[in-house]
Amino acid sequence: MEVSLSILTIDYTKVKEQLMPLSKELKYLHLDVMDGHFVPNISFGPAFIQSLRKEFSLFFDTHLMMTHPKQYIEAFAKAGSDAITFHIEVEDDPMELIQQIHGYGIKAGVAINPKTDIKKLASILPHVDLVLVMSVQPGFGGQGFMRDSIHRVKYLFEEKKKNNYTYLISIDGGISNQTLPLVSSYVDLAVSGSYVMNAASPMDNLRNLKNIL
Ligand code: DX5
Ligand code: ZN
Repeated sequence: MEVSLSILTIDYTKVKEQLMPLSKELKYLHLDVMDGHFVPNISFGPAFIQSLRKEFSLFFDTHLMMTHPKQYIEAFAKAGSDAITFHIEVEDDPMELIQQIHGYGIKAGVAINPKTDIKKLASILPHVDLVLVMSVQPGFGGQGFMRDSIHRVKYLFEEKKKNNYTYLISIDGGISNQTLPLVSSYVDLAVSGSYVMNAASPMDNLRNLKNIL
């Protein structure tokens, strides 16, 4: 298992200096894109990701919280994403999105909100490289972990084993040294934002998570 660090709550004027030391302990960087429509918040777009790409060789795990991802896949792929994850709740066709993302030679992921029936993913599980289970209502960092998510990652873990699927299971929202142990036997990737980035010592808290893995 690996930690995918979300920098949503970072001071954006200090992103390079704050991320540089942490990046040596990481393989994945989680990039939260918010359109102000799918979620009630706005973050950053492809230009920011492209700037980060020049500085960091990490795996860029881009999470699109957007109502219409289709028209932006190209921009986020060309900006340097290694995986693009869209939400199953969006209006665009999921299979078409997966094919579009794969067309850029990168990984395709699907994310699911806490209130969406997990079975809604059934038909696309054979086709995705990553499934991102939201353990908070998306939109903001720093929210509390929703315990129902434990059953959801367990379900995905069992489906994967039963059917020999290859997707990575990722969890996103409220992950800390207290909550990660609840899901650590089922997930491959743990997204963590404020527990690391808002800590007095981000490096210490990142290491706390890595020690659980
Ligand atoms: C929530 C985002 C998350 C968030 C995680 O909308 O998708 O990636 O930044 O932050 P924490 O770990 O603070 O919940
Ligand atoms: Zn996210």
